[in-house]
Amino acid sequence: MVNTEKFISSAIAEIRTMAGNERVVMALSGGVDSSVCAALASRAIGDRLIPIYIDTGLMRKGETERIRTIFGDISLKVVDAGDEFIGALAGITDPEAKRKAIGERFIRVFEREAKMLGATCLLQGTIYPDRIESEGGIKSHHNVGGMPLHMEFKKVLEPIRDLYKDEVREVAGALNLPREIQHRMPFPGPGLAVRVLGEVTKEKVAVIREANWIVEDELVEQYRPWQCFAALLGLGTGVKGDNRIHGWIIAIRAVNSRDGMTADPLDIPFEQLLRIGSRITSDIPSVARVVYDITPKPPATIEYE
Ligand code: XMP
Repeated sequence: MVNTEKFISSAIAEIRTMAGNERVVMALSGGVDSSVCAALASRAIGDRLIPIYIDTGLMRKGETERIRTIFGDISLKVVDAGDEFIGALAGITDPEAKRKAIGERFIRVFEREAKMLGATCLLQGTIYPDRIESEGGIKSHHNVGGMPLHMEFKKVLEPIRDLYKDEVREVAGALNLPREIQHRMPFPGPGLAVRVLGEVTKEKVAVIREANWIVEDELVEQYRPWQCFAALLGLGTGVKGDNRIHGWIIAIRAVNSRDGMTADPLDIPFEQLLRIGSRITSDIPSVARVVYDITPKPPATIEYE
């Protein structure tokens, strides 16, 4: 990319020309790619852009409120679909089946909302590496969150299709998007569901959301790791007061990585690990045990499922 300002003005001009007088929808996740697209399109076509933010109930703590605050002044549509997602996940324990259930539900909700809004154009945050990866696979056309849409749009706009991730971050800075968006850790599309081993329930999601928030609160600013989070491994024995209890086992995962293909555990001082463990067990009474995952990738993956 030659010049960020030049890119921004030509992207805005392109969106204006392509959209004409049509209504444009997009799936806004709050990640840097979709956020940059929303900011560009909002400048280009104002409230004819309708970003749809689907609250899957599997998002991090405070995420939906954050999105409302950041994008509240554009015509954002927030869809509370938590119950639908939990319903779709009931009884499913296989990791890939979970991903599929979430992806399908996401597409269904998105299609339903887009139809109700009468939008004829789709805006997508596809970036250059996505296009390389999907060559020969699912076409990036009509593809939201990795699944194909069964809906026809007159036009598909992909304003950041030629950018690499670091260029997208640069554009985010130039568009004055908050620093936390510009430098966000990757967060998987299926959300907290891949950080809960086995069946996903409302209770488990509530536990892991809180634990995840504590881990991020303790580690993000200080270490700027590639990723850090908590995962819920299952039930184990513990003792609280005079009683032996059955409580959740939480793993802390914090890794450095260049591209997510390999990763190394973060070297966190023991004192700090103890503090994180103690915050988790005292703030979340149903947790009996906290462990620190010291496995690099390979052989482990970064996420737990
Ligand atoms: P793994 O766990 O495979 O993760 O070592 C590598 C990177 O990919 C992210 N990840 C996902 N992202 N949907 C996504 O959008 C997924 O299903 C998914 N699974 C893993 C993970 O957070 C890490 O950055």
